[in-house]
Amino acid sequence: MKVLLVGGGGREHAIAKAILRSNYSAELFAYLDIANPGITRVASDYSLGSLNDIASLAVYAERIKPDIVIFGPEVCLAGGAVDVLESKGMRCLGPTRAQARIESDKSFMRNFMKRYVGRGSPRWRVVRDANEVREFLALYPNAVIKPFGLTGGKGVKVLGRQLHTHEEAMAYANELISRDGGCLLEERVLGEEFSLMVFTDGKRLCPMPLVQDYKYAHEGDTGPMTGGMGSYSDSSHLLPFVTQKDFDNALSIMNDVIRNLSQLTKTPYRGVLYGQFMKTEHGPILIEFNARFGDPEAINVLALLETDFLELCLSIAEGEMVDRVHFRHQATVCKYLVPKGYPDQPMANIPVLVPEFLLHSLNPEIYLASVNESNGIIFTTKSRTLALLAVAATPWEAKRIVDETLNSWNPEGLYYRRDIPRLGGMSQG
Ligand code: GLY
Repeated sequence: MKVLLVGGGGREHAIAKAILRSNYSAELFAYLDIANPGITRVASDYSLGSLNDIASLAVYAERIKPDIVIFGPEVCLAGGAVDVLESKGMRCLGPTRAQARIESDKSFMRNFMKRYVGRGSPRWRVVRDANEVREFLALYPNAVIKPFGLTGGKGVKVLGRQLHTHEEAMAYANELISRDGGCLLEERVLGEEFSLMVFTDGKRLCPMPLVQDYKYAHEGDTGPMTGGMGSYSDSSHLLPFVTQKDFDNALSIMNDVIRNLSQLTKTPYRGVLYGQFMKTEHGPILIEFNARFGDPEAINVLALLETDFLELCLSIAEGEMVDRVHFRHQATVCKYLVPKGYPDQPMANIPVLVPEFLLHSLNPEIYLASVNESNGIIFTTKSRTLALLAVAATPWEAKRIVDETLNSWNPEGLYYRRDIPRLGGMSQG
């Protein structure tokens, strides 16, 4: 079976491992924007190209003739890669362009939620001029300002965190209005964040274990926002601060979204939907959707997946998802190591000398991300370098495994957050 994986980060390294664990004895092909050796070393062939360049992806896919194409990053989904490849008769794990708007167009997402779900949103307004911004900020002085489009997790700014004064908030909103014709303003909601990802064939949902992701670059949830510095999950598949009722409420929102998005687009949503929720005193509030696996969250959950990953992906792409998806009841902790200075002034092209024992270690396990390789040595780029994942009976034990490894390695040129996960249940809102 030929599998084409799209994307070259840590999430895609986790997907590649899950593909190669499958009983289908898959032959792996990859289309990626960076030659991540974690993927290229195990692939039969790969093609380097921009993830925005759907035409190049299509040319490569037509050459390979894969049995299924599995997507990691959002940019190709938002660009319509699934529409193009399906029109050429290929099976895909990922939503169409119209469905991926649930992630790529925040104005669409909030209007869709209002019309079809009717719950789970904070107060929000799409603003098109400075007066509308001023009105909203007068009502909600701690607003969140969001660009409509994709930002790699880095364009959202919160008054009271990245924006310190009313004037700074006005200036940022006006900048987005000039650039995009508008932006989304939301009331800031306080609480603990959690990620709920589901597999779906457009008719049914199979939830994955909940994960908590740490987005801020520095310890104590300070500094700039990143794609994610680390994450953890618990053996119960819930999180210590999320009750079964919270989980059921969040899942029912996801259910309504998938059902209505499939009806609206007249196409079943086939792939992964990721809801980023804030647990508040009034229940879970949806912060945003992603039309794909989270990164690093995919690293946590795919390590626990017991169901054959390719069987699952094929069943989704064919529109009849397997009845049950099983995950091991163990806890996980994932920590990303990033170039010093990440994300604003990352030190690129620094050699990373991974100790030999770690290259072969199963627990913690290493996942390579945005790295280049030359003469057998890997070098940092401007993005996240590699992740370590530990699996254990409890998050505390998994954290200990990762921390002990990092203490003995002391990776030069790289930075990681020692305080991930903070298991005391502190607010990240
Ligand atoms: N971890 C956040 C994301 O994947 O967008």
